[in-house]
Amino acid sequence: MKGFEFYLPVEIIFGLGSVKRVGEIARRFGFKALIVTGKKSAKESGALDQVLGSLEEAGIREVILFDGVEPNPTDKQVNTASDIAVREKVDFIIGLGGGSSLDVAKAVSIVSSNEGYAWDYVSYPEGSRLIPFLNRPVICIPTTAGTGSEVNRYSVISNPIRKEKLVISHSLNYPKVAIVDPALTKSMDAKLTAITGIDAFIHALESFTNRAYNPIADDLAIRSIKIIREWLPIAVEDPQNIKAREMMSYSAMLAGMAIDKKRVALIHIMEHPVSAHYPFVAHGEGLAILAPVVTDFNCRGNSEKYALFAEIMGYEKKASKAVNALMDLLERVNLTLSLKSLGVKRESLERFTEDVLMLSGASLKINPVEPSPEDIYHIYEKAYEGF
Ligand SMILES: [Fe+2]
Repeated sequence: MKGFEFYLPVEIIFGLGSVKRVGEIARRFGFKALIVTGKKSAKESGALDQVLGSLEEAGIREVILFDGVEPNPTDKQVNTASDIAVREKVDFIIGLGGGSSLDVAKAVSIVSSNEGYAWDYVSYPEGSRLIPFLNRPVICIPTTAGTGSEVNRYSVISNPIRKEKLVISHSLNYPKVAIVDPALTKSMDAKLTAITGIDAFIHALESFTNRAYNPIADDLAIRSIKIIREWLPIAVEDPQNIKAREMMSYSAMLAGMAIDKKRVALIHIMEHPVSAHYPFVAHGEGLAILAPVVTDFNCRGNSEKYALFAEIMGYEKKASKAVNALMDLLERVNLTLSLKSLGVKRESLERFTEDVLMLSGASLKINPVEPSPEDIYHIYEKAYEGF
């Protein structure tokens, strides 16, 4: 076995009802909190009330609420929340909600503690404009099971003026604590359950099959694939099934750790321009569209891993079966779509291709097969019509 490294400085508190512990844990970090969340779901599901109640019980009565996070969150949302954190001199930040809220909370930790704005910290191929050296403590409480943001160093942020979607990736961007309470995910409807669950699945698939090396990450990804294959269709059919919710929260977290070590690959790289130009496309929908086409292209590159993936999914141990295994799961959770069906214009495909090459060219090297510009355009063309 080749040597490897593993560093993951996030305390995980997992279990039904664990959200009630947020007050007790937050006391370590101070007495003034900024809660970063979206407009609706944390409020309607009762998650926000549970957090506020627990904070109050622990004597944390100074709580500022920023509820301006939207899907495909923007640099402007991060900057606005960071200004509030600075002005109000908050001690720590709680990210409560789906991946967008967690990503923004983590980015606010960096931006509010250092100079500059959110876009100064995203990773362009030549690096970020500024390097952070301070952060505020962050507690992440996911209300979806998909992103894995609660356990990794990434914040994916969009810039609507530049029409770019890039990642803040830094060791200061890890949350201090992840409180993963699967009961909070019960309020997701079938569609959101499927979209977020497929995000977790693609994290596992891409980290497992790409060319980076980390055996712990591979083991996490294999377990995650097995769980999602079994439990995502159940969670989609029966949103109140708490066992399915527990298994999905667990597997999304494992996949979130796997990508922290091995990153993602071409499916994610090609999805980012799509939702950067069309913010109404949910990340998981974009992934579901691109995944079969990209897997069909990739599986000759790391055929041993793809054969193993097919086997884990219950198919014959052959790389050529990987696409069938993937399509089978997508069909079971009603996510067989095309870019055209979501309202993407055909003339955008060229710009998407340029964006991939300009913004993510270096990341293409860990993809199982390094694609040419023509390959990328051709994959977008197939995804436009649907696999
Ligand atoms: Fe993702």
